[in-house]
Amino acid sequence: MDSATAAIGERLKRARSVVVLTGAGVSAESGIPTFRGPEGLWQQYKPEDLATPEAFQRDPRLVWQWYDWRRQKIARASPNPAHHALVQMERIVPEFALVTQNIDGLHRLAGSQRLIELHGCIWRMRCQAEKTVRENREVPLRIIPPRCDCGSLLRPDVVWFGEPLSVETQVQAFAVAESADVFLTVGTSALVQPAALLPAVARERGAFVVEINPTSTAITPFVDSHLQGQAGILLPKILSILSKD
Ligand code: OAD
Repeated sequence: MDSATAAIGERLKRARSVVVLTGAGVSAESGIPTFRGPEGLWQQYKPEDLATPEAFQRDPRLVWQWYDWRRQKIARASPNPAHHALVQMERIVPEFALVTQNIDGLHRLAGSQRLIELHGCIWRMRCQAEKTVRENREVPLRIIPPRCDCGSLLRPDVVWFGEPLSVETQVQAFAVAESADVFLTVGTSALVQPAALLPAVARERGAFVVEINPTSTAITPFVDSHLQGQAGILLPKILSILSKD
């Protein structure tokens, strides 16, 4: 193991509060496409056609077909070593929180408990009229677009471009970031706000910020340490140091 990775493990051992921010890169090794890589979803599709309230208003069927396709892909996927390492980390660290931009539900499936899903969850639907939220795991969907018992359209319970995050979620995410001794930003291009602000906020409050990503990102110049590599390899390595007495 290289010395930088080992040093992060040792630093985590001394930390009281550890916060991890994850993005699509964490699920890449589970076979779920990221958004902005060479094979990313936003190379093939336009966000304004599929991931905005206006797109849904214009063509709910098209938007739901795309989400149904993504749900089918995610349903076939399993948590990978990165997800599992974060579950173990939560068990060891005194205060731990996982903030994710992912909507695939793989962190929960792996067993993470203190989890803040910033952008919602693809396995929930929300009634456009009543605003009620329900879990729905039907794959593939029998009827597209799905409707509530009240007759109104159901939408994916996710955050789309141009929509604010729920205030409660945002407050929780910033509160944990502010209290972190060590903050790990893993598998995110750090381009979407307000998630991308979290590492900066943590650092301003004194956290040691570590980035785990095979490539450099918008926040690489501002982190304390950049471990270049895949989350599914590096997180288990860090965990192995952290779990040693
Ligand atoms: P992106 O697709 O923008 O970035 C994924 C990052 O993961 C890139 O920086 C990759 O280099 C990195 N990566 C790829 N494979 C990896 C691996 N095995 N281990 C670690 N890192 C890896 O995805 P996000 O940053 O999550 O929002 O995107 C943020 C938001 O933009 C998403 O939540 C979504 C999207 O539009 C909404 O839909 C609102």
